[in-house]
Order: sequence, then structure tokens, then C-alpha cells
Amino acid sequence: MEISYNQNKAELGKMLFFDPRLSKSGWLSCNSCHNLAMGGDDNRPSSIGHQWQIGPINSPTVLNARFNVAQFWDGRAKDLQEQAGGPIANPKEMASNHQLAIKILQSIPDYQTKFEKVYGDKDISINEVTDAIAEFEKTLITPASRFDQWLLGDDSQLTLQEKEGYHLFKEKGCVACHNGVGVGGNSYQKFGVVKPYDKDKNSLGRYNVTKKEEDKYVFKVPLLRNIELTAPYFHDGSVWSLNEAVSLMADYQLGIKLTDNETNKIVAFLKTLTGKQPEITYPVLPPENIHTPRPSIN
Ligand code: HEC
Ligand code: HEC
Repeated sequence: MEISYNQNKAELGKMLFFDPRLSKSGWLSCNSCHNLAMGGDDNRPSSIGHQWQIGPINSPTVLNARFNVAQFWDGRAKDLQEQAGGPIANPKEMASNHQLAIKILQSIPDYQTKFEKVYGDKDISINEVTDAIAEFEKTLITPASRFDQWLLGDDSQLTLQEKEGYHLFKEKGCVACHNGVGVGGNSYQKFGVVKPYDKDKNSLGRYNVTKKEEDKYVFKVPLLRNIELTAPYFHDGSVWSLNEAVSLMADYQLGIKLTDNETNKIVAFLKTLTGKQPEITYPVLPPENIHTPRPSIN
């Protein structure tokens, strides 16, 4: 998992990721729903946004999001930069708009200086804001999980149960959809291949983007790295137990029934995918001033 990124840009992006002034209320930051202290999500079935509004879908983790083929459950944003513009202006999330967000940042001399250092001038644009946030997100990887160390040849990293779990994960067919560096994130698949998933009929998944009938209930396959940190599971956040999520996957996606023993082994394996979490120094944000537009909860 070698990565490269621009240090100054990522530092600026980190400030923006944590800056609640990008929201209309001045209270919600990206970190509110993608909490880097708990796996990069909010550990809720669906997120709470502006004016305590409950969102329609579970918040995925931002950890390792760079390894996704596209962003969002339905893949409607092609990359991290395109994604980052969304929540700022989403009325159910941060409820601001791009002009207001820029006005706020532009009113703060320290931000002007930081943007100038990275982008060459003091005029802040939304493209620069989303570019910097995306650069920071690219740093949010979680290498050196026990599974990775085992793959590199350190056999002592996995117990017998975990190795058997990995074997079952491959043998039963999970690996057909959950594969690659993120153990998922690289294809769109129907939720309910063998048996229709009927707990949530409102989220149409990939159909939102393609409008093709066969893309109804097709979702981006989630990354399984750090999966033990990001309950509840599925796009509707309907399942809190990882054991239950695994046994439902076997049932809906593969049409098989796992024994409790098999489920336990697969779960034991999935927990070895928890990697070294990014060490984040909480950024100190520059103060607003008399020219800064005020927060509003309306
Ligand atoms: C109010 C909660 C909330 C806030 C604030 C928020 N997000 Fe999200 N985020 C979500 C939800 C919910 C989704 C899933 C939406 C969907 O797929 O339709 C999501 C999706 C994402 C994804 C896609 C991950 C994937 O696996 O597809 C990324 C990346 C992301 N957000 C980054 C950000 C950034 C950067 C910010 C700040 C600019 C931010 N989010 C602010 C709730 C939030
Ligand atoms: C045909 C493709 C496919 C197969 C096979 C498959 N999955 Fe999935 N998996 C998905 C999709 C798609 C989702 C997202 C479903 C949703 O929430 O809409 C998912 C979600 C999950 C989740 C929840 C992730 C999260 O962040 O909410 C877990 C855990 C999981 N799968 C594990 C497994 C295991 C273990 C197996 C084997 C028993 C398996 N999957 C087999 C496609 C597949």
C-alpha cells in the first residue's frame, strides 16, 4: 500500500475536513459523520445532518476510500474530489452552498495564506477546497493489518481459526465480490443476488445513475478493511452484528446457509483486516472575524 500525496495540500485538506464552518450551522464538519476516532464513519444506521435531519442511507467510512472504483453507495461521484462538493451543499447534510462556504474561508486571512501557498493565489475556489479535502482523504489508509503481515510471510500473525476463516471466505465465494486491495470497493453488485433484499426498497442504488432496470438494488461492494469498526452494516445500516451481516450475505448473495462455526471463523478472519489507523493531529483552525458570515440554524 504505497501512496504518494502532496503534504501541504493534505494539511490544508485536513483543516477543511475538520472545519464545521463549511456547514450552514457552523456545527457539522466532515468529521461529524466520518469520525476518524471511530473508523471513519458515524456508527449510526443513517447520519444526522442539518437541523437534526435523519439521512436516507448509512455513512460509509472514509478510510481507504481512495481504493473505491467511485464514491457513494451508487457510485455517483467519480472520485474523492467530486464527492467532497456534495455534502457541503446537501440540504440534509451540511446545508451550506459553495458560494457561502467560499465566502467564509475567504474572510479568514490565515486560510487565504494557506491556499496561496498551495494554489498560488489568495482567491479561494470550490475546486481548490475539494481538491485539498480529497488530498487529505488520500492519506487515510490503514496498512499493516495482521492479514497484510501474514500475506507478507509472518505466519504467526493469524490463528488457526482466522486462517480457516480466510479459507472459507474464498471457498464459499465471498471473494468473488470482496477482493482487491480494499477487499471490496471495485465493483457494483446486486444486493440480493439469490434472494431479493426487501428490508429497504427506497434505495435504488446504481439505478439512480444509470436508470437501467437491471441496476435496481445494485450497490458498490463495500470495502471490508476495518469492518469491525464500522457497524451498523449495509446501506440501510439495518444490522449491528458482524456475524449476522456475514450470515445474511451467504444467504442473499450466495444462497447458502453457513453453520455458526463457519460464520464465527469468517468473522474472525474479517477482524484481521483492521489496520493501523491514521494518526491524526487535531488541527488548530484559524479564527473567524468581523467579516465572516455568521452561522445559521435555519
Ligand atoms: C451529515 C453527515 C455527513 C457529513 C457532514 C458528510 N458526510 Fe460523507 N457521507 C455521508 C453519507 C450518508 C454518505 C453516503 C451517501 C450515499 O452513498 O448516498 C457519505 C459518503 C461519503 C463518501 C463516499 C465513501 C464511499 O465509500 O462511497 C466520502 C468519501 C465522504 N462521504 C466524504 C465526506 C467529506 C469529505 C465530507 C465533508 C466535506 C463529508 N463526507 C461530510 C454522510 C456525511
Ligand atoms: C455477489 C457479490 C457479493 C458476494 C458473493 C458477497 N458480498 Fe458481501 N456485499 C456485497 C454488496 C453489494 C454489499 C452491500 C450491500 C448493501 O448494503 O447494499 C455487501 C456487504 C457486505 C458486508 C457489509 C459491509 C458494510 O460496510 O456494511 C459484509 C460484512 C459482507 N458483505 C461480507 C461478505 C461475506 C463474508 C461474504 C461471503 C459469505 C460476502 N459478503 C459475499 C456483495 C457481495
